[in-house]
Amino acid sequence: MTKIYGEAETKVTALDNVSFSIKKGEFVLIVGSSGSGKSTLLNMIGLLDKPTQGKVLVDGFDTSNLTDNEISAFRNEKLGFVFQFSNLLADLTVLENVLLPSQIQLDSPTDDKAKEVLEKVGLSDQLFKRANKISGGQAQRAAIARGLVNNPTVVLADEPTGNLDSVTAKNIVELMKRMARDLGQTFIVVTHDRSQFGEVDRIITIKDGRAFEGEYQTEMEVVV
Ligand SMILES: Nc1ncnc2c1ncn2[C@@H]1O[C@H](COP(=O)(O)OP(=O)(O)OP(=O)(O)O)[C@@H](O)[C@H]1O
Ligand SMILES: [Mg+2]
Repeated sequence: MTKIYGEAETKVTALDNVSFSIKKGEFVLIVGSSGSGKSTLLNMIGLLDKPTQGKVLVDGFDTSNLTDNEISAFRNEKLGFVFQFSNLLADLTVLENVLLPSQIQLDSPTDDKAKEVLEKVGLSDQLFKRANKISGGQAQRAAIARGLVNNPTVVLADEPTGNLDSVTAKNIVELMKRMARDLGQTFIVVTHDRSQFGEVDRIITIKDGRAFEGEYQTEMEVVV
């Protein structure tokens, strides 16, 4: 994929011929300095924006010919999202928040399914609390539950620990890694702070819009 923003003197090549595939169940970290193109990459994979060139295949399915409506439906069914801020609706309960985004699906998850996922993230005792009455770490747990509730093909997380203190961040990292292991859930996680994540299946470094396999690589090494 290539992604170019703007044109002429404002032109920015945010992604430059990036190509790789991720296996089912892999926990993949995307690292790179600020402005390198990490969020751009995640937004393309998440079908939140379209590449200038190239395409995204999910479960072998070419998403490039979908209409906007089809993209929304596909995203709801196949993808889970976790962002830096949990974006919970303050007046709704934890349980309602987890169910909300998937409510528009034909085959939307049930209350029981949401409760099951909330139990996995350690929030069984917070189901009926309003989102504005829980801590930042609990809110991010709820956001992860929301990202998992539709059994997505892949969970995409952009700086999921970026707004948390280091202890809470470590817990959230452990939670995501445990979900990956226990559920065989594929994760693609963008982070500034590689050290928070310890051992992961795979690291892709983005540097000036280009992707490299592994961390701290130079351009002498493998381009993916
Ligand atoms: N909507 C946009 N319009 C124009 N340029 C953009 C847009 N979004 C990102 N860019 C540019 O594309 C490049 C990559 O940005 P991106 O947000 O993907 O970086 P990042 O690696 O996520 O950075 P950070 O770590 O700060 O979040 C930057 O030069 C940025 O200024
Ligand atoms: Mg970013």
